[in-house]
Amino acid sequence: MKRIEFHDREKETEEIRDILNSEPSLITFVYGPINSGKTTLITHLVDQLPEDYKVFYINLRGRFIRNYDDFIKVLFDVEHVARYERIKEFLKPMAAVLPESYNGIPISKDTFLNLFKEKEIEDAFVYIETVLRAFYESGHVPVLIIDELQVIGDMKIDGYLIYKLFNLFVRLTKELHLAHVFVVTSDSLFIEQVYSEAMLSGRCEYLLVDDFDEVATTAFMKEHGATDDETIITWEYCGGKPMCLLKLIRADEKEMVAKKMLATRVNQLKDLLDYLDYTQPRMVIGEDEYMVEKEDIVGILARLASLECIDDQGLDRPAKHYLIKNNILFLDPDVGIIKPQSRLNLLAIRTVLGGMQN
Ligand SMILES: Nc1ncnc2c1ncn2[C@@H]1O[C@H](COP(=O)(O)OP(=O)(O)O)[C@@H](O)[C@H]1O
Ligand SMILES: [Mg+2]
Repeated sequence: MKRIEFHDREKETEEIRDILNSEPSLITFVYGPINSGKTTLITHLVDQLPEDYKVFYINLRGRFIRNYDDFIKVLFDVEHVARYERIKEFLKPMAAVLPESYNGIPISKDTFLNLFKEKEIEDAFVYIETVLRAFYESGHVPVLIIDELQVIGDMKIDGYLIYKLFNLFVRLTKELHLAHVFVVTSDSLFIEQVYSEAMLSGRCEYLLVDDFDEVATTAFMKEHGATDDETIITWEYCGGKPMCLLKLIRADEKEMVAKKMLATRVNQLKDLLDYLDYTQPRMVIGEDEYMVEKEDIVGILARLASLECIDDQGLDRPAKHYLIKNNILFLDPDVGIIKPQSRLNLLAIRTVLGGMQN
């Protein structure tokens, strides 16, 4: 299979570079629809950073985290430097010789076993801060990146874990200016929560990584040998969703594959709507639980018949949450709009609604 080079993203790369070049002071939330290229952008950038940056990249995607032990396991990279006894001692040589990036906060096995025996989450946070400080004081710029943080959104370890983490992040940035902190997520309900969270207000900023625009999509397809017609078909069916573009680049019969992708999406949406004829799902929003009405779902979708995005205000909340949760719609709380997760979803919505009217 042909290797696909990293494409474009100049604007977003520039924004992240600007952040990395200044003193850490805000938490950066990187958000956007699913498969828009957030992880790819971040990892590509990390690979290109100068050596004085030390990156700690933790991806919670697909990790099964139910309790303290699970969480501690994903947070730390226990393989390094098992022979050193105490934190301070092993940090000095480590800062000098170890690689630019880690998949977790490095820790020796002994320290790991001793430090977390009591299962106090605060011990873990103090350790993280100490590690980052050690790097900082030895002239490095620590960068902490947590990908798919929403995975632990509802988790409790003697109170909601997420708030304790946010506290740590605020401390590392706004208060101590010790480390850059990036939180990456595809979950727009999570971002909506973050957005209205008082403890984060004035302490974070938002960076949208959306699907490619038409210019970038055209360039990407052309670069990979698509004809003019194929490029037009790609934009019509897939918009600029990198994941779909890759699929079409690899396909010989691009139009057929695009039509098949749409047919699949149409079927999924039909099934979802049929399902609502038999059951009435419940959505938990904050402390309350609401019933989802099919009528409200169709009402929201119908507004997309002639528009590509709609105002977030005034929509039925349970229905809105249901559609976002099921990855049909994407909410951008920073500008207050709702749009389909992808061009394919928009076309599927229009097809299914068209079918319902006939
Ligand atoms: N800038 C890019 N250039 C080339 N391919 C990309 C780019 N961004 C994303 N992709 C491809 O699209 C797919 C989805 O991207 P990913 O970063 O996993 O999305 P996200 O993290 O936003 O869900 C990946 O397989 C990746 O290879
Ligand atoms: Mg990702």
